[in-house]
Amino acid sequence: MQPDSHHLVIDDREGGIFRVHRSAMTSEEVLELERERIFARCWLYVGHDSEIAEAGDYRRRDVAGRSIMFVRGKDGAARAFYNTCPHRGAIVCRQDEGNAKTFQCFYHAWTFNSEGRLVGIPGKEAYEGTRFDAAERSLKHVPRLEQYRGFWFLSFNPEVEPLEEYLAGASEYLDIVCDQSLDGRMRIVSGSHRYSSRANWKLLPENSLDGYHGLPTHQTYFEYVTNVGGMGGDESKVKGRTFGGTAKALGNGHAVVETWVPWGRPVARWVPQMGEAVKPEIEAVRERLHELYGPERGERITDYNRNLLIFPNLVVNDILATVVRTFHPLRPDYMEVNAWALAPVEEEGARLQARLHNFLEFLGPGGFATPDDVEALESCQIGYRAGGEEWNDVSRGMRRDVATDSDELQMRTFWREWVARIAGTPTSDWGDHPAAAAATAVD
Ligand code: FES
Ligand SMILES: [Fe+2]
Repeated sequence: MQPDSHHLVIDDREGGIFRVHRSAMTSEEVLELERERIFARCWLYVGHDSEIAEAGDYRRRDVAGRSIMFVRGKDGAARAFYNTCPHRGAIVCRQDEGNAKTFQCFYHAWTFNSEGRLVGIPGKEAYEGTRFDAAERSLKHVPRLEQYRGFWFLSFNPEVEPLEEYLAGASEYLDIVCDQSLDGRMRIVSGSHRYSSRANWKLLPENSLDGYHGLPTHQTYFEYVTNVGGMGGDESKVKGRTFGGTAKALGNGHAVVETWVPWGRPVARWVPQMGEAVKPEIEAVRERLHELYGPERGERITDYNRNLLIFPNLVVNDILATVVRTFHPLRPDYMEVNAWALAPVEEEGARLQARLHNFLEFLGPGGFATPDDVEALESCQIGYRAGGEEWNDVSRGMRRDVATDSDELQMRTFWREWVARIAGTPTSDWGDHPAAAAATAVD
């Protein structure tokens, strides 16, 4: 039997037990509540500033299952419109991307400019002598659209708090990601990965920040890497370092895992596998970043991997490549995923190539990691159908003072926000230790 929405999560901090009822992953009713209380209320990632750099640039996006036009107007402003014709409903923008002065609906050819205004109606005289008002039949704006360092988010909720407030502690990590550009500006590299998974959408934020699954699930990748000569890590440097990362609750359901890595990062950590030719360039960037940001922050930018979750459905993997990944459910057991590669605006040549190679080889839907992850997620979904067990266990590391990236604090943070929204009982307590959670929220 499915518990009511307040009781889909068991959060026993004293006993160190955290469980999620499996109907959260299988029930139509829960998905309906998610549409209404999460996707219609939160800030949702729509696209990156660099994707609509010029006037008339546009991207068609599915945001939580709704077709959206993300457009740079002639006046230079970014806008998000519902992609539906104010005449009789057809979608107006039928291409995924491009540049256009106007958008013409294919059904009866009403035409809209890049600011959404209705500027052309075939046979307009038919409306003469009526109260028909062309201005009022313009494309409708999504109520809120704001950006943080080039990441544009929209909200279907006119009352939503300002984006920066919503991002809470996650903005610091977006800063770290963006500061790997010497210019402080990142861009989406053209092209994207699109795939779907026969699994509940919430399994992906869990998986994207799950250090525990790495070795067992991605065995093939690690074997391959060992066969081609390792990750290029300098073992001597590992000594005295904490290899293995930490997990943090960042407020509002956002979370991060951050790990110092002994192997290379295309941005600014050279290892022999990258080849001698790129060494001077990578080392120069490294030096410059350390100069700009000081040794501590500089090292976080150059030597640490991080996976950041922005509630509910944005993940930024800043690892072997920097990947922006978003996903939405179509059914309780089916989601669509989109992923883009992010790079410093000034990065080109061999460094960019190394980054894109990793985007494809490790993170792509035909790469070494993603198919394993999709398989794991789909296998969980099949497991839920088997029945017998009603609860997932997400208790790992619950009584530890500092959670590691192979604990499950990062998932608990997500689930605490999730259940608070589903049950309509807002929370300000996302960590395992209430005091620590409060400090993070104030930071
Ligand atoms: S539905 Fe678009 S012009 Fe008729
Ligand atoms: Fe994985």
